[in-house]
This record gives sequence, structure tokens and C-alpha cells, in this order.
Amino acid sequence: MDVEYADGRVTPLAADRWLRPIEGDESLLARCDGPTLDVGSGPGRLTVALARRGVPVLGIDVTPLAVRLTRQAGGLALCRSVFDPLPRTGEWSEALLADGNIGIGGDPVALLRRLRELVRAGGVVIAELGPPGSTSRVERVRLRRNEHVAGWFAWATVSADDVGTLARRCGFPAVYHWNEAGRWFAALS
Ligand SMILES: C[S@@+](CC[C@H](N)C(=O)[O-])C[C@H]1O[C@@H](n2cnc3c(N)ncnc32)[C@H](O)[C@@H]1O
Repeated sequence: MDVEYADGRVTPLAADRWLRPIEGDESLLARCDGPTLDVGSGPGRLTVALARRGVPVLGIDVTPLAVRLTRQAGGLALCRSVFDPLPRTGEWSEALLADGNIGIGGDPVALLRRLRELVRAGGVVIAELGPPGSTSRVERVRLRRNEHVAGWFAWATVSADDVGTLARRCGFPAVYHWNEAGRWFAALS
């Protein structure tokens, strides 16, 4: 599978890497100890890993195959957008935006404001970011496999340099950064 950008660039999307643990995952998982919403959970590697640790966790994803794979692997998942009505609204302790999922919807302000509604007061959003020095941007992309091409959608990338300002606009005054295995993260609370 490839990602095609509106400006004509095409990059491979190694989606099968989401089927197995990725170096750096442990630093996300270790921060989730209360009810956790895994937003854009894909085939569920993080949802399932948390469930195995006894953490109450729900994966949500708009792709039916992803939800099916998560359930087959023993995780709890709903085929729902993060912007749809969701259980435990205002009660989640943690919400995960792993694998660049702060890009969902192409509007990080709308997404973080939605997560402000979903997590409890004092709850934490854990987001994976672009490295310092990268550019935050919104792009139109579509997925293609050989001659099969899906529709265009908007996807955002947020640099670690910009997440503090963004988080404060969305009701998360505290931002803690870390990096692990070449991946960059922030916990917003
Ligand atoms: C980069 S992949 C995430 C992979 C995943 N975190 C994992 O561990 O496998 C992005 C995922 O977000 C999902 N997604 C896109 N828009 C969404 C939305 N509005 N609500 C929930 N999930 C969404 C996609 O279907 C896709 O599975």
C-alpha cells in the first residue's frame, strides 16, 4: 500500500508494521493505568497489549477490518469515529493518539478539543508527534494499492515544537515531552 499526496508524492505505507509491537510502544503503554481510549486503534496492537495488562481499554477505528482484527486478537473495539458519540465520555483517564494519529481529520485543534471532552478532568492525551525541527502541516492524501485507489482525506502532522501552543489552545495547559527509539511523544493534561 502507498500514500499518495495531493502534490504528487507517493510514499510506501508499511501498514503491516502495526500488527506487531513497535520499539517505543512500552513508553506509551506504561503511562496508561486507568480506562484508556485508543483512538484510531488500527488492528489493535496497543489496545490488546493494554488489555493483557489488565488496563480497561477500548479501541475505536473507522475501518471495519481493523476493528475485526482487534476483536479477533482479544481486544475490545468499536467501529466508530472519534467524533461520534462514544461510551464513557468525560471519564477516560488516558487517550492514545499513537502512530501520528494526532493527524486524524486533518484538524488537530478540533481533534484535541474533542479529546478534551472525552477525557476526565486531569486526564491525559498521549500523542505521537513529528520530531523537533519538522514542519506541522495539513495535507490531502489518499491510499492506493496497485490500481485500487481510495478517496482523498485530510491528514495532519504536528511537530514536537508546536504541540505546546496547540495543546494550550485546546484546554491542556501541561505538556510533557519525551522521545524513545526515534519516536517523539507528548502527554497533554
Ligand atoms: C496510523 S493508523 C493507526 C495505527 C494504530 N494506532 C495501530 O496501532 O495499529 C490510523 C488509524 O486511524 C483510523 N482513523 C482515521 N480516522 C479516524 C476517526 N475519525 N476516528 C477513529 N479512527 C480513525 C484509521 O482507520 C487507521 O486505522
